[in-house]
Amino acid sequence: MTQSPTTKPFVEVLSGRRQPVPPLWMMRQAGRYLPEYREVRAKAGGFLDLCFTPEFAVEVTLQPIRRFAFDAAIIFSDILVIPYALGRDVRFEVGEGPRLDPLDTPDKIGALSSTGDFTKLEPVFEALRRVRRELDPKIALIGFCGAPWTVATYMVAGQGTPDQAPARMMAYRHPEAFAKIIDAIVENSVLYLLGQLKAGADVLQIFDTWAGVLPPREFQRWSVEPTKRIVAGVRKKVPDAKIIGFPRGAGALLPSYVEATGVDAVSIDWAAEPSLIRNKVQSRVAVQGNLDPLVLIAGGDALDRAVDDVLSNYAAGRLIFNLGHGIQPETPIAHVEQMVKRVRAYRG
Ligand code: CP3
Repeated sequence: MTQSPTTKPFVEVLSGRRQPVPPLWMMRQAGRYLPEYREVRAKAGGFLDLCFTPEFAVEVTLQPIRRFAFDAAIIFSDILVIPYALGRDVRFEVGEGPRLDPLDTPDKIGALSSTGDFTKLEPVFEALRRVRRELDPKIALIGFCGAPWTVATYMVAGQGTPDQAPARMMAYRHPEAFAKIIDAIVENSVLYLLGQLKAGADVLQIFDTWAGVLPPREFQRWSVEPTKRIVAGVRKKVPDAKIIGFPRGAGALLPSYVEATGVDAVSIDWAAEPSLIRNKVQSRVAVQGNLDPLVLIAGGDALDRAVDDVLSNYAAGRLIFNLGHGIQPETPIAHVEQMVKRVRAYRG
């Protein structure tokens, strides 16, 4: 098959065409494991200043591409910019993670605005336009948002929690109030993703990091349904929009997530069961994943074996090589290089 010089292998996989060498990138590839990121981070001051200063956001988006020549760049931002646009107070405290004003009573939720202030997000769109101009045309640019369930867990608790108990409780005790938060995130995420496509994103990813804590009925209501509405809302304006879902920890519920949401690909975590994925997921959509981020810290033979496992499990079908979740700050750069080299040496 002849390919034009602007064909993006990453987008090809999402469009149904398996690539002989699987395209490769890493979730959270711009981040603290890179010294050049830490340098810009120190210059920027606060984390949101880093996200909302296009010059800095462009730089850190491109850093992992320069080092590893990945097949995709992901725009540097955060899933919590949506609550920020909705007028919530969002802060990132060093060493502690995000802090928001908790929406922990139905009264507070009643007062939540459902209209985002998109002028606050304009710097993200500007950064996308600039990255697209600077990026090699063969490299895809990924825009993203958090799935409503995962974003809501932070909005309700006001911070990360080990098992998302505050949001789960709110959803059981006050489902109507909780649905109001979810609806506001759905509507604004559609607009945000459409803005990212317009600014130059080739592909969108919806991160549902905390999907795996929900029982099946709740998973359907708070993860699948809202994600389906986002996918439909985006495709209503951009029918061929390419969308990757990441319902982390969904396990055996993945096939129904894929069928119901209509995503073009799913990102799978490292605990996924290969035959279930091959037979019930990869038979319908592309699969992205799923190296354990801890084996990338460990390195050595364990890393080689784990890379080979991902390839032998999934590379016969449509695969985007990635981690099963984000890269951790303590990961040695040499181990990332080892992984990239091994994936790129694959001929299948
Ligand atoms: O390189 C990339 O992937 C692009 C940028 C990106 C960030 N966050 C930057 C970031 C992306 C795609 C995210 C998504 C995100 N943010 C998720 C979903 C994906 C996942 O990893 O589960 C979630 C749950 C968040 C919320 C969030 N942001 C938390 C919990 C934290 C603190 C803990 C942590 O992971 O560091 C953040 C901060 C954050 N977002 C950092 C980065 C690089 C670290 C901030 C710093 O440099 O001080």
